[in-house]
Amino acid sequence: MEPALHQLLEELERFGLQNDAGIDRASAERPLRMLNITRDTGEFLAVLVRATGARAILEIGTSNGYSTLWLADAARALGGKVTTVELLDAKFALAQENFRRAGLADRIDALQADAGAVLRDAAEGYYDFIFLDSERSLYLDWWPDIRRVLRPNGLLVVDNAVSHAEEMADFVQSVRADGFACSLVPVGKGEFLATRGGAG
Ligand SMILES: C[S@@+](CC[C@H](N)C(=O)[O-])C[C@H]1O[C@@H](n2cnc3c(N)ncnc32)[C@H](O)[C@@H]1O
Repeated sequence: MEPALHQLLEELERFGLQNDAGIDRASAERPLRMLNITRDTGEFLAVLVRATGARAILEIGTSNGYSTLWLADAARALGGKVTTVELLDAKFALAQENFRRAGLADRIDALQADAGAVLRDAAEGYYDFIFLDSERSLYLDWWPDIRRVLRPNGLLVVDNAVSHAEEMADFVQSVRADGFACSLVPVGKGEFLATRGGAG
């Protein structure tokens, strides 16, 4: 990783912690918490992208783009691209600025949109890799489209699988019931991994 990107990621880590500490969970400003993945999760995602050779990556839940930068830096090494989706104006704007500062804007298609609509419009089997880090109450509704747009042998990674295991229980059960090979990895807030064989 280039030193300038390393520095930017460290800056965003400090910003995220300070910002989120100043906003109470119950306050009306809750949506403005950055809720970034941890650094070790970023490292893990980068290893997974490189090891699987993923070139078409979808991220659901951009926030200010911290996790996107990890994915995009790994994608750059493979000539790939990240499509990332964020609903909120303020976070979308922060992310755009961070992508520009990182020199990774050409590796990122940033969409300000509802992830459900983006998933509905995506082509079958298009994505090699999907990182899901968004509104957990919607995961179950999104699952049929996630399953459709993830290519056979593609990899789904879902954050907060340990920190919010109860909220994700029905979703995880559906993925397992659909015959995906799954694993829960205790990195960061817990990463749920799922992949489907070509014949599945
Ligand atoms: C946990 S944060 C993402 C953090 C980011 N992945 C990171 O590590 O830097 C979840 C994001 O999903 C966004 N979000 C919630 N519902 C959404 C939806 N229906 N479509 C798109 N984004 C949504 C929220 O605004 C929030 O910024």
